[in-house]
Amino acid sequence: MLVRDLQSQHPVTPPLPPKDRAMDDGHSPDEDAPIPDTTAPQEPDTWPAPGHSPGSGLDRRTFIAASLSASLPLVVGDQWRWRSLAAMAAATGQSTGEIPPGLTAGPNAVPVSLLINDTVHHLRLEPRVTLLDALRNYAGLTGTKKGCDQGQCGACTVHVGGNRVLSCLTLAMSVRGKPITTVEGLAPEGMIPGGSLHPMQQAFIEHDAFQCGYCTPGQLMSAVALLHEPCGPADADVRECMSGNICRCGAYPNIVAAVQEVRAKHTPAPRRS
Ligand code: FES
Ligand code: FES
Repeated sequence: MLVRDLQSQHPVTPPLPPKDRAMDDGHSPDEDAPIPDTTAPQEPDTWPAPGHSPGSGLDRRTFIAASLSASLPLVVGDQWRWRSLAAMAAATGQSTGEIPPGLTAGPNAVPVSLLINDTVHHLRLEPRVTLLDALRNYAGLTGTKKGCDQGQCGACTVHVGGNRVLSCLTLAMSVRGKPITTVEGLAPEGMIPGGSLHPMQQAFIEHDAFQCGYCTPGQLMSAVALLHEPCGPADADVRECMSGNICRCGAYPNIVAAVQEVRAKHTPAPRRS
């Protein structure tokens, strides 16, 4: 007898798919599903990288590690060299005017010399570059922070000619020839072990006037500028004078205490103008 004849006498019913089986016997398919063993060793994370077939043996972690190890020396090496040049410029008062890696001067860049923390920085900048970007991206002074970049948070506060300004709203070209002070220049010797900090920096530490510290450079620059400003004696006056500096961690009471202590104990140094 041929197989075809046997099949016609005893037709084989194919197994129902899980959904139909559930309708057939009144069970939910989930009830029949095996319970996964969460104590069993997990399969390695083998999400294939784009362009690689699952069978290539290259898992996601291996792919990322290989990519990073190939590119990191190029990126970090360049950044490291440039940071060293920026640090050398700060220490010696001579900057090379090199463009940092990853940045181009732009088609309309012109030579600009900025006097920052008593060091002349020879830079090449487009006229549209803000003082904040010139400091952080071209002069290598990243102590000044970029918060909103719209003049609303005060994180970017620096001194120009002894007055506080928002560096995100100030064009670098407009402050040529004026002394610029950033948080790195408040007390340069404070960077050396055993060197003393600015009294305001010391007071911030003693009064625990920060948590994450992101707003702190701007708070410090405003607080030091405030010492020369006609600000009233009360805590409320200090709050008003510091109101342009936002602290998302809410360290305001401690900041006011630090400022008041410095005002009570120290005669401010003459402002640089
Ligand atoms: S970054 Fe300049 S005010 Fe916020
Ligand atoms: S200390 Fe975190 S934002 Fe002020």
